[in-house]
Amino acid sequence: MSNWIEIGYMHEIPRLGSRVIKAAQGNIAIFRNSNDEIFALGDKCPHKGGPLSEGTVSGRTVTCPLHNWRIQLDNGIAVTPDEGCTNTYPVKIEGNLIYLELNS
Ligand code: FES
Repeated sequence: MSNWIEIGYMHEIPRLGSRVIKAAQGNIAIFRNSNDEIFALGDKCPHKGGPLSEGTVSGRTVTCPLHNWRIQLDNGIAVTPDEGCTNTYPVKIEGNLIYLELNS
C-alpha cells in the first residue's frame, strides 16, 4: 500500500542542498538541484555507505563526500565506471509542499 507523507516545504531545502528524513527504511536524503527538482535517495552510498546527503549536488548527480563516486539522483545508479545503486523513492510537489512515498 502506498503511503505519501508530507516532509516539508520546498524553500526549507536550499538549492544544491539536502535534508535527511529518518524512516523505517533508514535515512533518506532529499535533494534539491539548481532547477528546483527534488529527489529522494537512501542516504547511503553504494560504495561504502557514505552519507550522500553531505555530498555535492551538480545537475542530476550527487558526488559522495567520501571517495567521490557520482550517483544519479533520478535512479540512484552510480555513474560509470563505478557500479552500484542506492534506493530511490518517489516524490511529488503540491504547491510548495514536498511529499515522499514510502511503501508500508
Ligand atoms: S562511500 Fe561513497 S564513494 Fe566511497
